[in-house]
Amino acid sequence: MTVFVTRKIPEAGLRLLQEAGCEVTQHTKRQELTSEALIHACKKHDALLLAGPNKLDEHFFRECRHLKVISLLSAGYDNVDISVATRLNTAIGHTPGILSNATADIAFLLILAVSRNAFYLHNSIARGEWGFIEPTAHLGMELYGKTLGVFGLGKIGFELAKKCTVVYDMEVIYHNRSRNEHAEEELDARPVSFDDLLQKSDVLSVHANLSPQTRGIFDRKAFTRMKRSAIFVNTARGGIHHEKDLTDALQNEEIWGAGLDVTNPEPMKRDNPLLTMPNVCVLPHIGSATKETRDAMAVRAAKNIIAGLKGEQMPYAVNPEVYD
Ligand code: DGY
Repeated sequence: MTVFVTRKIPEAGLRLLQEAGCEVTQHTKRQELTSEALIHACKKHDALLLAGPNKLDEHFFRECRHLKVISLLSAGYDNVDISVATRLNTAIGHTPGILSNATADIAFLLILAVSRNAFYLHNSIARGEWGFIEPTAHLGMELYGKTLGVFGLGKIGFELAKKCTVVYDMEVIYHNRSRNEHAEEELDARPVSFDDLLQKSDVLSVHANLSPQTRGIFDRKAFTRMKRSAIFVNTARGGIHHEKDLTDALQNEEIWGAGLDVTNPEPMKRDNPLLTMPNVCVLPHIGSATKETRDAMAVRAAKNIIAGLKGEQMPYAVNPEVYD
């Protein structure tokens, strides 16, 4: 059985595939595969382990009907047309539930870093600008007792909210499609309307999936509803905020700061004005990038592939209904 892997993946997952008798080809060039190159490579393999942003659309699924199994090396699956996959009876594996702590850490780091202008000040030292100490310069914002608003309170949002309540005694409000009773009981989290989330949050952190409902939901209109002192954080998907509107909101001081681990597009261009703003911190989509989490993701994706190649149900499928 042959498996095509679109990136170099952690040894833990690779070993599992090889021990199961799979012949693995990894695309190790630091260059994205075009859609046609991906199809071409898949045609020579039985399975696809997809890491990275390649889109799997109807054209891909029709060209690659021979694939016995497809798994993603991510929890998110917005790059895959799941409705087409399901219609064509193709199960899509993914790696949910294991990156909550690592991603919540990055959200927490961004909140703290933005509140104290940390990245900007670090860069200013590198530019030789650590000069005269002024009592009125470099003033940040304290987080104690503030309100954390979570857009999409699932496992990652829960972990972030837990940190913010324990460390900063923050009040937690959230906006979800459905209630999170666990968070309400454990953290006193309060469900609110989207408008209330915008108006009441001191820190608003995004943890929702990218979907037609959430794409671009944080736009000009949303930013103007937020507090002028608010910090906006997105560690979910860059498509959920409108980047130009966010830039305008920061430039016009309609919100106070922003922390982004996801951008639109990715990678962010080096001349993006967000990169030179004092109250903005940007990271290159590293939410799940710890050794422990990436190993666990690779193992989970490999288990999906092995199960699929044996003709069994994948343990972690986005659309398990295809097995019915
Ligand atoms: C995920 O798993 O969805 C992470 O964001 C990495 O893409």
